[in-house]
Amino acid sequence: ELGRQLQLREVGGILLQAATVDNWSEIQHFEAKPDDLLICTYPKSGTTWIQEIVDMIEQNGDVAKCQRAIIQHRHPFIEWARPPQPSGVEKANTMPSPRTLRTHLPTQLLPPSFWENNCKFLYVARNAKDCMVSYYHFQRMNQVLPDPGTWEEYFETFISGKVGWGSWFDHVKGWWEIKDRYQVLFLFYEDMKRDPKCEIQKVVQFMGKSLDETVLDEIVQETSFEKMKENPMTNRSTVPKFILDQSISPFMRKGTVGDWKNHFTVAQNERFDEIYRQKMEGISINFCMEL
Ligand code: PPS
Repeated sequence: ELGRQLQLREVGGILLQAATVDNWSEIQHFEAKPDDLLICTYPKSGTTWIQEIVDMIEQNGDVAKCQRAIIQHRHPFIEWARPPQPSGVEKANTMPSPRTLRTHLPTQLLPPSFWENNCKFLYVARNAKDCMVSYYHFQRMNQVLPDPGTWEEYFETFISGKVGWGSWFDHVKGWWEIKDRYQVLFLFYEDMKRDPKCEIQKVVQFMGKSLDETVLDEIVQETSFEKMKENPMTNRSTVPKFILDQSISPFMRKGTVGDWKNHFTVAQNERFDEIYRQKMEGISINFCMEL
């Protein structure tokens, strides 16, 4: 039984799933290839959304081809491990090139071969407050992550970075700081909500492709929250209830910008803003907090 006992363990001060830590050597020795595209996100920042966008682009807007497998299986998750199933590394190793892979790892824990091969990195960042809210509901429904406790308790856990994949602040800072030294397309969840076509066009260019206007429009429609919530290949409905209990909170929960306002108290918000100022000092990112 998996239960809530699948705890998190530390690697280099970052909490990761225990099975990932057990498999750490294989992950660190992963051999990236120069034509790999790596989707990088802090959890709950729009991973599934950008995955579907990238796949739609790769398939030139062919919806049927994007239905070939559930989204978790289309792009190997590098640090994923749940023996005896094949690990993320094993899945990536058997995948034909050009490969699109995915990770939540912070820069300092990424397998070095990604840097050595100058791979393309597609990073999506989401404002910290909505990310915290989304992660809270995810830990409520995800039976293989620790119980988040009350919202008040989770608020403390999140700002201290004692959650899976570590601190939001360090993650975003880490990827932001390396973005001009490598091939990084740095996108924002909020921009994708406000003007999906414009952001999708950036991804198309970054991937070295060009698509007709009609195909672009099709991708915008097919990757909307409403469509992806109904799509069994993207909404995690095939994951068993003892892992993801969607009766507690759906995986495709709200998909909006500004839901933090329904969770943060005035005092929490003031405290958060102060902590944010300290932790993100010198980083010139202005996250959109409402649309
Ligand atoms: S995970 O578990 O880390 O891979 O989760 P991730 O996919 O990164 O993030 C889940 C949140 O993204 C929302 N989502 C979307 N928003 C807008 N449009 C689309 N198409 C979309 N698909 C997923 C999802 O609803 C989660 O956010 P919340 O705020 O919880 O609704």
